Amino acid sequence: MPMADTTVQRRMSVPLTAFVAGAVVALLVGVFGRLHDPTLSGTTTLGYPTVLAMKTVVSTAIAVLVVFQIATALWMYGKLGIRSPSWLGTAHRASGATALVLTIFVTYHCLWSLGLEVVGTLPNGHVVTPRAMVHGLLGCAVVGTIVVKVVAVRSKRAPGWLLPVAGGLLFSLLVLAILTSAVWYVGEKGWPSQAG
Ligand code: HEM
Repeated sequence: MPMADTTVQRRMSVPLTAFVAGAVVALLVGVFGRLHDPTLSGTTTLGYPTVLAMKTVVSTAIAVLVVFQIATALWMYGKLGIRSPSWLGTAHRASGATALVLTIFVTYHCLWSLGLEVVGTLPNGHVVTPRAMVHGLLGCAVVGTIVVKVVAVRSKRAPGWLLPVAGGLLFSLLVLAILTSAVWYVGEKGWPSQAG
């Protein structure tokens, strides 16, 4: 086999492994979301009236952080036409880590207290809308894409395109997951205030 072919195969093995691992994790999270019995024990409202209200507030913070992530990433890749300062990489990593922790926190609350809902009427009479189902599927895809993004950041053998592709995909999926949940919530019920 020519040398160039082996090099290409070696370089493609990291993205392929990352995307397969991400897809498997997304699938497993979805299966867990269908099998697990939803419960409010083991959750917190952080002083908001409901878990949904708390998730709306935390998800808004995530939205601000991911917009900062994409802006600083474009700046570091030289896409804004201005030289990036030396502290930008550290700021990008710190806000990225914070966004990751908050996303895992919100996802845990979604999966644990509700799970992956499918359009129809639940035994308790709650009607699951297409929006709620699409949101849950996007949430599973977010978790799988986090796996791809972490591999892209950590792997020294990954091709240069993997990090911006994984980062851009994660940003897009998170924005869609937030639009179909927190933004919908604020549109329907207004901004949540803390329980008095
Ligand atoms: C495995 C992943 C996830 C699953 C299965 C899931 C599922 C759900 C479900 C079923 C609801 C209730 C929808 C309704 O009936 O109104 C919900 C609400 C919510 N989710 Fe998720 N979610 C996931 C990930 C995420 C992520 C990544 C975010 C944002 C970063 C998020 C933010 C929210 C918010 C703010 C609400 C409250 C507003 C609402 O009721 O839609 N979720 N989630």
